[in-house]
Amino acid sequence: MTACPTLETNRLILRPFRDNDLESYFTMMDTPELRKSLRIPDDEGVSEAWTAMAWWLGQWELRGTGHWALEEKISGSFIGRAGLHNPERHDWPGVEVGWALHPDWWGLGYATEAGEEAVRYGFEELGQACLFSTILVDNHRSQLVAQRLGFVLVDTKTLSHYPTEPHGIWALDRELWTA
Ligand SMILES: CC(C)(COP(=O)(O)OP(=O)(O)OC[C@H]1O[C@@H](n2cnc3c(N)ncnc32)[C@H](O)[C@@H]1OP(=O)(O)O)[C@@H](O)C(=O)NCCC(=O)NCCS
Repeated sequence: MTACPTLETNRLILRPFRDNDLESYFTMMDTPELRKSLRIPDDEGVSEAWTAMAWWLGQWELRGTGHWALEEKISGSFIGRAGLHNPERHDWPGVEVGWALHPDWWGLGYATEAGEEAVRYGFEELGQACLFSTILVDNHRSQLVAQRLGFVLVDTKTLSHYPTEPHGIWALDRELWTA
């Protein structure tokens, strides 16, 4: 049993991470595209990928937020992660909606589809008044996902989890989303 619910969208299953996702998860995180976008250091390997999976799953238990593993319905393939993130950081803006896909599944609308479900969950199930997304200023693909979901840029600042570069702070109000 886990506190992470399994949900479905048109083309995706959003489910808890499993130990046997590790190879697919590490393969995704190890692509040049993901290393560049997320600034993953070269010496981060499979052990850190496993720790990250445990971190996402554990957050569901502790906080009721976390990322789901994303499965493409038609193939059953693991394609990435998305969900809600609320770490213990004094300068974190609030519950964050985030996404990361293996590059083989970019350009298909999957991040936006999973993001829509995460936004719905954040408002309807978690009762948040506002959701956020923190995005590095050069991550244009991620900014486009946020825009498609209705987020607007409200601030740009350096956050303690990554003190060397500023992040854009994107926000979506519940009232705007409802309308
Ligand atoms: C950020 C990231 C998830 C965006 O992926 P993406 O594929 O660009 O975004 P989406 O899944 O929403 O797909 C949108 C694209 O699919 C296209 N598309 C095709 N079929 C579609 C459909 N049925 N519905 C919606 N869009 C569709 C859209 O037109 C758009 O095309 P474009 O790339 O030519 O503009 C991806 O680049 C990534 O994983 N980056 C690395 C990790 C990362 O940076 N995460 C964010 C940290 S803040």
